[in-house]
Amino acid sequence: MKIAVAKETRDGEARVAVVPELVGKLTGLGYDVAVEPGAGLHALIADGEYAEAGATVDDAAFEGADLVVSVQPLSAQQIRGLARGTTTISFLPVNQEQQTVVELRDAGVTAHAVELIPRISRAQSMDGLSSQALVAGYRCAIVAAGMLRRFFPLNMTAAGTVQAAEIVVLGAGVAGLQAIATAKRLGAVVRAYDVRAAAAEEIRSMGAKAIELDLETLEGAGGYAREMTEDRADRQRELLTPYIAAADALITTAAVPGRPAPLLVTRDMVEQMKPGSVVVDLASESGGNVEGSVAGEVVRIGNAQVWGGRNVPSQMPGPASKLYAQNVVNLVTLMTAKDDEGSSVFSPDYADEILSGSCVTQDGRIVHEPTREAIEGAPAPEPEPAATSDDVPDEPSAPQDPQLDLPYDQEADQ
Ligand SMILES: NC(=O)c1ccc[n+]([C@@H]2O[C@H](COP(=O)([O-])OP(=O)(O)OC[C@H]3O[C@@H](n4cnc5c(N)ncnc54)[C@H](O)[C@@H]3O)[C@@H](O)[C@H]2O)c1
Repeated sequence: MKIAVAKETRDGEARVAVVPELVGKLTGLGYDVAVEPGAGLHALIADGEYAEAGATVDDAAFEGADLVVSVQPLSAQQIRGLARGTTTISFLPVNQEQQTVVELRDAGVTAHAVELIPRISRAQSMDGLSSQALVAGYRCAIVAAGMLRRFFPLNMTAAGTVQAAEIVVLGAGVAGLQAIATAKRLGAVVRAYDVRAAAAEEIRSMGAKAIELDLETLEGAGGYAREMTEDRADRQRELLTPYIAAADALITTAAVPGRPAPLLVTRDMVEQMKPGSVVVDLASESGGNVEGSVAGEVVRIGNAQVWGGRNVPSQMPGPASKLYAQNVVNLVTLMTAKDDEGSSVFSPDYADEILSGSCVTQDGRIVHEPTREAIEGAPAPEPEPAATSDDVPDEPSAPQDPQLDLPYDQEADQ
């Protein structure tokens, strides 16, 4: 059994899918581990460290591999170099990467998308979205602290007192809670808001103040948020305006699975912020929580510097790689079984919802139905049987909620 670790090819990607300290876990499962030269370079991991850990460092790492692991989707050229039947594990945002999905389908690759792993308790150790959100949330708070030209903590000195910075965090999921925890550790006064009912208690448990708005909460499937109506969005923006105007730094991390990021803060709201204030928009790449934020850039809106996040976990490639690699190793462990003689075999069981749920392509087909439909169109309708007088007309079907296509599960919040 052979597992190959790809050198990332996408611009700006500094992470790597396996770190040397986890090579032993894979060899312990019975895998030969082959790493493409330079795979760890941007995460400051030398090829020699992989070799010392028991991997081979090899230009032809993909040759004969049962499994190829990467952070970003493989390039078209890398995919064409895979033998049919090879399995891949990577992030694979199926909506944005339709051409890659087609390449994977046509190459006969069994491709797993980490973001489609169902968010059930058993899958938490494989949940790459959560592990990378944690890194991103921390980074957002550190960026805000670095950009803000004042202390985060209260300072009481002989010369006098300097007040703590006031931080507002919008969106208190995995990334938002980590941003809150980090800003609190740095001593700031933190207020936070999230549309989910459970979030207020989580915000308070981090030592922050929960902003309570006179609005209904919004829960979707699996403990996630639902999209707001335009009316509610307007009202939320109106009610949040005074909190944002009073903040020294605003950090936004709000997302709704499968949708563009919700617009929480208009340009007009940012223009009401104080001179020297800072805005950090983690959602910039997926449309932005803050109007006018640009992914990968700092722009000025009114008195504020607005930082737009772009591949934020990759800005801390060492810890992000280590956490992602742990997710990968746990998923590979699930794909590995024992044969009758007790030897390890690479033998994914597609009756397992974690593996079937995360699988996008297999045997030359797109098996993730929403992606298949988006790329190949709806299947031809079954020919209707001739109607008889006994036929009872069908109930009109309920409008389909596209969120139901997502692999999220109510168990997630239990
Ligand atoms: N495996 C698991 O069981 C598992 C793993 C991760 C997360 N979860 C659950 O899912 C929750 C959210 O996870 P996430 O961080 O990945 O979510 P996410 O990245 O999809 O969204 C981030 C946050 O934005 C919030 N949000 C959305 N619209 C908003 C709006 N208009 N205004 C303010 N906030 C808004 C959401 O409620 C969420 O808390 C977690 O807190 C947890 O309960 C479960």
